[in-house]
Amino acid sequence: MVEWMCGAAGMDRWRALAVDGLSGRVVEVGFGSGLNLPHYPSDVDVVLAVEPAATARRLAERRIRESSVRVEHVGLDGQDIPLDDASCDAALFTFTLCTVPDPARALREVRRVLRPGGAVHFLEHGLSPDPGVAKWQRRIEPVQRRLADGCHLTRDSPALVERAGFVMRRSEQRYVRGPKPWSWFTIGVAVKPADGTP
Ligand SMILES: C[S@@+](CC[C@H](N)C(=O)[O-])C[C@H]1O[C@@H](n2cnc3c(N)ncnc32)[C@H](O)[C@@H]1O
Repeated sequence: MVEWMCGAAGMDRWRALAVDGLSGRVVEVGFGSGLNLPHYPSDVDVVLAVEPAATARRLAERRIRESSVRVEHVGLDGQDIPLDDASCDAALFTFTLCTVPDPARALREVRRVLRPGGAVHFLEHGLSPDPGVAKWQRRIEPVQRRLADGCHLTRDSPALVERAGFVMRRSEQRYVRGPKPWSWFTIGVAVKPADGTP
């Protein structure tokens, strides 16, 4: 279902924007079925995939075979990433901060594995700034979570990213086509400060 929803026509443009500028060793949290893979720039040496769902990992196999980018599945939980401190150049979340049980913890882990100055790129749907839409998001969320693998509608991704100690470099928010509770999108890039702040 996630493959069908997240692979919807029209998402490709967003995915291409989300991966733009990634390079080197990239940890992708919630790799899913590899829908970002065709968009990765050639500057990326390896994608370190973190994904708990066996079905998603199986669906990703063909995309990995056909990709020119090397992919290593390194772990099952973005909240506990089995990589060394400061061992990655960049990180990517797409439609994953909505689903990870504890997004603050996942972002702390990503901050740990990123080198100083490393960037986290993210593309997420989330809490609408319109009170009327937000009210519906709160109402629908319990059903959404059950039907869509734990996906929340009311998470505020840019706030989560900044609270985890990243400095926002760019972010854009707007409604995309579709029902409003699901279509308030944020795309952004934030960096881990290079000043040694823990
Ligand atoms: C809505 S899907 C998005 C998949 C993919 N990022 C994409 O854009 O197509 C959410 C993904 O987060 C994964 N996920 C859930 N809990 C996770 C966790 N604790 N750590 C890492 N990934 C997780 C799910 O298995 C699923 O693949």
